[in-house]
Amino acid sequence: MLMSPALVLLTCLLLAVAVAPLQLQAATLIGKPADCQTTCGSVEIPYPFGIATTEGVNVNCFLPGYEINCTKNDSGYLVPVLANTKIEVLSLLVMPRPEARVQLPVASTCYNSTGGVTSYSNGSLDLNPVGVYRISEAYNELFVLGCNTLAYTNGGPAGGRYQHSFYTGCVSYCKDSRSAQDGKCAGVGCCHVEIPPDLTDNWMYFQTGWSHANMTFSPCDYAFMVEKGNYTFKVSDLTMPVSQTMPVRLDWAIRSNISAMSCAEAKYSPNYACAGPLSKCFNSTNGPGYFCNCTNGYEGNPYIVDGCRDIDECKRPETYRCYGKCKNKPGISLGISLLIFIILFTLMMRQKRRMNEYFKKNGGSVLEKMENIKIFTKDELNKITGNNSEVLGKGGFGKVYKGTLEDNTMVAVKESIEINEAQKEDFTNEVIIQSQMIHVNIIKLLGCCLEVDVPMLVYEFAANGNLQDILHGYGSHRLTISLDLRLDIAIGSAEGLRYMHSYAKRTIRHGDIKPANILLDDKLIPKISDFGASKLLTMDKDYTMFPVGSMGYIDPVFYRTGHLTKKSDIYSFGVVLLELISRKPIIYGDNLSLIIEFLKAYKLENSGRAIFDKEIMTEESIYILEEIGRLVMECLQENVEERPDMNEVAERLVMLRRARNRKHNPQNLEVIPKLSFSAADINTNSSTTTLSSLSTLASKEFFDRSVEMDTWSLRENTSNL
Ligand SMILES: *[C@@H]1O[C@H](CO)[C@@H](O)[C@H](O)[C@H]1NC(C)=O
Ligand SMILES: *[C@@H]1O[C@H](CO)[C@@H](O)[C@H](O)[C@H]1NC(C)=O
Ligand SMILES: *[C@@H]1O[C@H](CO)[C@@H](O)[C@H](O)[C@H]1NC(C)=O
Ligand SMILES: *[C@@H]1O[C@H](CO)[C@@H](O)[C@H](O)[C@H]1NC(C)=O
Ligand SMILES: *[C@@H]1O[C@H](CO)[C@@H](O)[C@H](O)[C@H]1NC(C)=O
Ligand SMILES: *[C@@H]1O[C@H](CO)[C@@H](O)[C@H](O)[C@H]1NC(C)=O
Ligand SMILES: *[C@@H]1O[C@H](CO)[C@@H](O)[C@H](O)[C@H]1NC(C)=O
Ligand SMILES: *[C@@H]1O[C@H](CO)[C@@H](O)[C@H](O)[C@H]1NC(C)=O
Ligand SMILES: *[C@@H]1O[C@H](CO)[C@@H](O)[C@H](O)[C@H]1NC(C)=O
Repeated sequence: MLMSPALVLLTCLLLAVAVAPLQLQAATLIGKPADCQTTCGSVEIPYPFGIATTEGVNVNCFLPGYEINCTKNDSGYLVPVLANTKIEVLSLLVMPRPEARVQLPVASTCYNSTGGVTSYSNGSLDLNPVGVYRISEAYNELFVLGCNTLAYTNGGPAGGRYQHSFYTGCVSYCKDSRSAQDGKCAGVGCCHVEIPPDLTDNWMYFQTGWSHANMTFSPCDYAFMVEKGNYTFKVSDLTMPVSQTMPVRLDWAIRSNISAMSCAEAKYSPNYACAGPLSKCFNSTNGPGYFCNCTNGYEGNPYIVDGCRDIDECKRPETYRCYGKCKNKPGISLGISLLIFIILFTLMMRQKRRMNEYFKKNGGSVLEKMENIKIFTKDELNKITGNNSEVLGKGGFGKVYKGTLEDNTMVAVKESIEINEAQKEDFTNEVIIQSQMIHVNIIKLLGCCLEVDVPMLVYEFAANGNLQDILHGYGSHRLTISLDLRLDIAIGSAEGLRYMHSYAKRTIRHGDIKPANILLDDKLIPKISDFGASKLLTMDKDYTMFPVGSMGYIDPVFYRTGHLTKKSDIYSFGVVLLELISRKPIIYGDNLSLIIEFLKAYKLENSGRAIFDKEIMTEESIYILEEIGRLVMECLQENVEERPDMNEVAERLVMLRRARNRKHNPQNLEVIPKLSFSAADINTNSSTTTLSSLSTLASKEFFDRSVEMDTWSLRENTSNL
């Protein structure tokens, strides 16, 4: 039976829409299966590339010569480098062409005012120990900057008049300091040339003897390879620092210095790299050797058995395969509906493509592999938040909206700050780390949406708002908060931080501990929140140039040195403790600083009595308050070594709670402090309002549902699509 063209189109359209999310979810086979690590930082490592396992070299993860080393850079980020080199890898491709995008150094020679050479680097680095790479002639060009400069590189085997088969470079000169112009690179201050194939090194030669005396506006010569379109000349680059790198695209192929086979030879070799009947061999176009490609209509990894997968043609708007099958000549009305469908289809595909771009920009390829967070689509999220109808809060980071999941679970949807390419890894790390931090006292990340320009994060909902508002807000409706509840809030928050500080092998510092970042759920269980992108720091990244933290809570030592340690969190937590026992904001009364007044009180009378909240200061409780006061003193120590760590803080708070329980339950000495409490712990002076009734949504049901949420499989069930 023949279908009408419109129907065929419609089917295609529906199919395209239906398969798109599937395509996002389907894990592509990129590395050798088994236990090979296939990513380093945010870079995918497809076979034949691979990472040696740390336990010992697992040679099956990569072909010899294609080893990648996953190392930490100076800021503590995982970055891939070509093994046995310092060459950073930006991306590795097996399809549609074999390519490695890397950072290569800029070569330079610098002169002083009398023309003497003050520094020199030729840009050479052992780029090609095994002979796998060629600098791509199609995708790179050579730039030379300087004002009396000739620079070139060379390559290819000997055989003519000289040692190499080609020499390529250019001359740049400036009449005076005003001749060079931004954006112009035609020999005045800057020149550039195409390069030939078979270039194996980044080595540069600078012509000596061309005077640089009295040329302070251009004290150095520079020469570098860079991918086409990435570099635009700026006059200020004539004085740029010498330790620069540029992105360069390398062609690779299956070859080595010892053996390089063409396809014709390789097919009969026992080490033939193209795996499976769908993998096709191509002679390398840059240097000897060959590479593999999936046959037409398939994509994936041609170096792995079964690595080539069918492409869904309907997903590819460029090919419009479906139209080809429409044999019927459309009539007038059919023609119009066809036109409408084409327009609709194109519009939808464009939108889909844009969403996919955002998805990629926002780190989707890494995040979609995370099992314990759900990736929401834009539409799902709009439904959840009722098109952002209820705003819960606003901050420097963006806005927080209230949302309801399909099963009526309340969630908070946070709109992150817009992220650019450079912040992508920060954001991805934040999401990955936070999604793994599963603790009752840390706000739980349930999912995220990456299809929008500003990524959105979906969190567990905290019905009772934040500690800042509870302690200092609500104006005249000020509530009494029992000492026990305050202790439990302190203990819960300390437990959350303790977990964070000792989380796995990585040390995570919060960097912005303050009451506003301690949320309370409907059971008044405290939850640490806000891991703003720049604030989540891993082990080796101790220094930060970004101002993190909030005035009044920032460790003065960190403020001076820029050295953010776990002890900086201890300081901030000390301030939170102080606020809990004094119930005064950090600036109170007549511009008094809570911290200074507290330290003064201790100096004068070795006691915090003057500062403690009168509402909880009784004969019986003063001992507990003084003990917390002493703990605060230790947390605020100038000498970071003398500050306790989070373990000790949590334990001392628990001990105080225990001592208090014993008093309350003399017959039961083994009462262990509960981390859950009821709203009855709080009474108002003036009315009978309880804290939880302030929240419109605090109910037992909510809590039960959010517990269910923990066990609810967050993985999207795509099989019934
Ligand atoms: C380390 O890598 C990250 C992410 O690739 C980058 O943003 C950062 O600038 C790098 N730091 C150094 C010191 O190279
Ligand atoms: C990988 O990097 C580590 C640390 O930088 C280094 O110790 C090791 O020798 C490197 N291994 C290879 C094969 O390059
Ligand atoms: C390899 O396959 C891709 C995708 O099918 C195609 O775009 C590319 O042109 C192919 N390369 C060669 C050399 O045929
Ligand atoms: C410039 O460098 C040369 C050689 O390094 C040195 O002899 C000379 O004293 C330097 N001149 C100045 C002004 O620094
Ligand atoms: C390039 O410089 C390095 C280090 O300065 C040196 O070891 C190497 O021999 C130089 N290479 C060439 C080809 O001049
Ligand atoms: C392999 O060839 C490259 C240039 O193609 C050269 O730099 C490298 O030293 C050679 N390695 C060996 C082991 O011969
Ligand atoms: C550099 O300038 C100084 C002072 O103007 C002059 O004496 C000297 O000859 C100049 N040197 C060259 C190489 O032009
Ligand atoms: C050049 O490449 C770098 C490294 O990938 C990238 O961050 C930068 O945005 C590129 N610049 C342009 C103008 O394409
Ligand atoms: C690949 O190169 C070999 C040797 O140079 C040649 O015989 C063969 O025809 C080439 N194959 C293709 C598909 O170009």
